[in-house]
Amino acid sequence: MPQPLSHLHPPWTPASWRRRPAAQLPVYDDVPALAEVEERLSTSLPLVFAGEIRTLRQHLAEVAAGRAFLLQGGDCAESFADFTERAITDTFRVLLQMAVILTFAAACPVVKVGRMAGQFAKPRSSPTETRDGATLPSYRGDIVNDLDFSAEARRADPRRQLRAYSQSAATLNLLRALAQGGFADLHRVQQWNLDFLRASSQGARYRDLASRISETLGFMRACGLDAMADPQVRQVNFYTSHEALLLGYEQALTRRDPQTGDWYDGSAHFLWIGERTRQLDGAHVEFMRGIANPIGLKLGPTADPDTLLRLLDALNPDDQPGRLTLISRMGADKIATALPPLIRAVQRDGRRVVWSCDPMHGNTLETRTGYKTRPFARILDEVRQFFAIHRAEGGIPGGVHFELTGQDVTECLGGAQAITEQGLADRYHTLCDPRLNASQSLELAFLIAETLKDYRRATGANTDADAGDGEP
Ligand code: PEP
Ligand code: CO
Repeated sequence: MPQPLSHLHPPWTPASWRRRPAAQLPVYDDVPALAEVEERLSTSLPLVFAGEIRTLRQHLAEVAAGRAFLLQGGDCAESFADFTERAITDTFRVLLQMAVILTFAAACPVVKVGRMAGQFAKPRSSPTETRDGATLPSYRGDIVNDLDFSAEARRADPRRQLRAYSQSAATLNLLRALAQGGFADLHRVQQWNLDFLRASSQGARYRDLASRISETLGFMRACGLDAMADPQVRQVNFYTSHEALLLGYEQALTRRDPQTGDWYDGSAHFLWIGERTRQLDGAHVEFMRGIANPIGLKLGPTADPDTLLRLLDALNPDDQPGRLTLISRMGADKIATALPPLIRAVQRDGRRVVWSCDPMHGNTLETRTGYKTRPFARILDEVRQFFAIHRAEGGIPGGVHFELTGQDVTECLGGAQAITEQGLADRYHTLCDPRLNASQSLELAFLIAETLKDYRRATGANTDADAGDGEP
């Protein structure tokens, strides 16, 4: 069994990551401006609060125990240009629809986490990009530089962090209003359908499910059980997340909770470590081991069991359930060989983690016409295999992680809409990776709900409402 790493590590501080090698961080030429920005952020308000973060951790502990399911999704990269009430509301609405499909069809509480209100920094496979013989730094997300292909646009500008912070605050403010101010009331389930979906097959399927939910609420009312009075029906808990990539920004928003003495990163409820920054002795693992937020760890096909166990020791030495979500992103062609050894290692060591499936990042390909895309069939295939493998290994398939948008884009191939290679050009808007559109997202939710229902039936998963805390 690997030795705990903690005795090797000097004490953690919010800045201790600075002594470690850091992958994927931009190089800023204006160092005084960077220092000034970090100073300003460190005296700015946190966006989320310790109590909420602890509640999410409790919900994730329910997921780890197989009593709830995690739905995490949103943009690959948020942008400064596409910052509208409409875009945020539509993505929130699709996540809400997916959650209700999963909750109702699989009779399972769903923990809802958006890749929203802070998902700005992007890791890149290459530090530079060459076009027509010119080489410039890669685009690293709007929090770092600009997508335009010019030397000025690609310069890392620290002041962008302040804009990302204020956009995150405003986005979160809208999300809180939507989650708690009546929009997410289950009595409005029929109105969540997006206009452009109404005529589609997924829209019709959703309408059908929504009317069954409305009938159920009517039935309960007739029985004298007034769901109107129950906050679980009138509001939802909705959490935010992003990849903790830009460590100076994350450090500046990290605060000590006076109540517990623990350190919380106030930039989001949930943060994750990306596939390219999970080096055991690297800066990202160092920073993340010290914050008390629930965290995620992306695992690609090169992850090996020994390194994983050492990462678990570093990131969750006390084995707190709900602290760590392992997000596998293997690809439909690799998951069958890459995932089982990891599940076995975690089980052998008796660790309590949430297993989630990101079927997006291992299934990206480029078309002959030069579009980066993902086939719907491969995304679904990876999710199905994820469930089957967990069933065979006696693991718990706890959740899914998607890149999606409420907009009617054409970025992923296939689905019931049958988006073709030629069709990709119609509305291909992403700044980074291809996202599922609203119709593909609902379709996937229906298919996953069936798989989840089968899994829960076959394994006798606990559906006793008293066992969980009823997160709607
Ligand atoms: C992402 O989630 O946007 C991402 C870059 O994923 P990964 O680190 O798994 O490649
Ligand atoms: Co991505």
